[in-house]
Amino acid sequence: MNIPTKLSSWKALEQHRASLEGETLRNLFATDAQRFDQFQCTAAGLFVDYSKNLINATTLELLLNLASEAQLEQKIAALKAGDKVNNTEARPALHSALRNLSGDAVMVDAEDVMPGINRVLDRMAAFSEKVRSGSWQGHSGKAITDVVNIGIGGSDLGPLMATEALAPFAHDRLQLHFVSNVDGSHLASTLAKINPETTLFIVASKTFTTQETLSNAHSARNWFLESGAPEASVAKHFVALSTNSDAVASFGIDTNNMFEFWDWVGGRYSLWSAIGLSLMLSIGSERFKQFLSGAHEMDKHFYEAPLGNNMPVLLALLTVWYNNFYGYTSHMIAPYDQYLHRFPAYLQQLTMESNGKSVHKDGSPVEHSTGPIVWGEPGTNGQHAFFQLLHQGTHIIPVDFIMPIESMNPLSNKIGSHHELLLANCFAQSEALMMGKNAQELTLEMHAAGESDDEIDRLKGHRTFTGNRPSNTIMMQRLDPQALGALIALYENKVYAEAAIWDINPFDQWGVELGKQLAKSIHQEIEAGNTVTAHDSSSNGLINRAIKFRNLQA
Ligand code: F6P
Repeated sequence: MNIPTKLSSWKALEQHRASLEGETLRNLFATDAQRFDQFQCTAAGLFVDYSKNLINATTLELLLNLASEAQLEQKIAALKAGDKVNNTEARPALHSALRNLSGDAVMVDAEDVMPGINRVLDRMAAFSEKVRSGSWQGHSGKAITDVVNIGIGGSDLGPLMATEALAPFAHDRLQLHFVSNVDGSHLASTLAKINPETTLFIVASKTFTTQETLSNAHSARNWFLESGAPEASVAKHFVALSTNSDAVASFGIDTNNMFEFWDWVGGRYSLWSAIGLSLMLSIGSERFKQFLSGAHEMDKHFYEAPLGNNMPVLLALLTVWYNNFYGYTSHMIAPYDQYLHRFPAYLQQLTMESNGKSVHKDGSPVEHSTGPIVWGEPGTNGQHAFFQLLHQGTHIIPVDFIMPIESMNPLSNKIGSHHELLLANCFAQSEALMMGKNAQELTLEMHAAGESDDEIDRLKGHRTFTGNRPSNTIMMQRLDPQALGALIALYENKVYAEAAIWDINPFDQWGVELGKQLAKSIHQEIEAGNTVTAHDSSSNGLINRAIKFRNLQA
């Protein structure tokens, strides 16, 4: 085991960080005309400018030493080879096999998993074609118009985010809906918009034991049957995506209508598997293949590029740098593309469920902070909400700006082109965060506007900006299936590289279990309706209050 804080490269980075005290991005740019050329990376159709970071050539060298000392290359090779990198569950993590278009075998326990993956992909493609063409019909002989994906976490966020991101490529008859929350309002508001005769429900659950999903699926089936649909027609309106065929059968879905995947696909990494069926229904199987191909290109880059020119590794090292050597533990994702509006939410699960860990792979406590808090909103909306804190707040929050160069909707009017405005805002934000505005610049600006020296003095503290706030900018030509695939795989591989350096397991999520267990027992207590005393006084009080007021209403 490589405890990161004990590595000599970690200690060298601590010293280097101290030597950078007082260094500014402004100065780094002023003293190095080549900085933009030096700190950039291109891979799988994506371009990353990482020059606006608090690093110099020595920082990069030391971070790469850390990667080597943490055996990152060997750990990437282990991931690719199908080693049991998920050690607590004794499983490989082979989401990359799901998009492996190389024709090479991928072995799990001495068996090539590629034929099985391709078989399911072919079944998904054939099914999608039937639904899209209208030849798959509901019980009254009408084509499907609405598809409702019922799932939660990785069985919801990935397909939802990608279907929204690729909305310009959507089938024009099919409306996609996603129901995740066990709050009945989520399902009810969706059911109110659709017709049972022309709706296909996809019940998406790796385990097929998740309370929220099963509850929503049961209510959806009740609604369907209460509409007068014959029991036998459930097969035409309900399909399942799962690893658990017994549970699918006992729910009442014909396993002929089940698209399988495998336990070596983590929930938050499952979009590339059968869990992507709703996306395939929306964009078609050819475009789904382009989506896989973009991710495959990024995987090849991750496996083959030297660490110093490896996009996921570089982004991971920057996260480690800020998280562990500056104490910047929050990370903002700002997609300048409205179609990516669910991307920050998707990345929250990917990064926080993966790297929100406090123990090393051997179970010993970590001595450093691990996965950052990830959040965000599309620009320019975020600019008019929380960017104030990014510019002048006491927290320094590194940002990833994500920006397609071409718009899918190139509107313009007498003010100009929408997309040029969007581009301008994106570039302006990263420049403003980095450069800030000093007192001298403010004085010149306010004098030019005819303001008095007194007024300048009065407002100086409020209207100057320290700047020195780091960001990456990730650009692509346009947000198409290939580019989206590459973008998601970039972050998946980045998360793995971070975990490898921190020596934590990014593929389990034991932390989610405690809440699930408690919810089960409290659910029974609420259903029983008796006064509870088994918990702490706050929890007892809250539960009893809910029971009392429910009983009063009944
Ligand atoms: O939230 C915990 C979790 O286990 C996620 O990892 C997973 O994506 C989600 O629940 C849904 O699980 P399933 O697909 O098995 O219903």
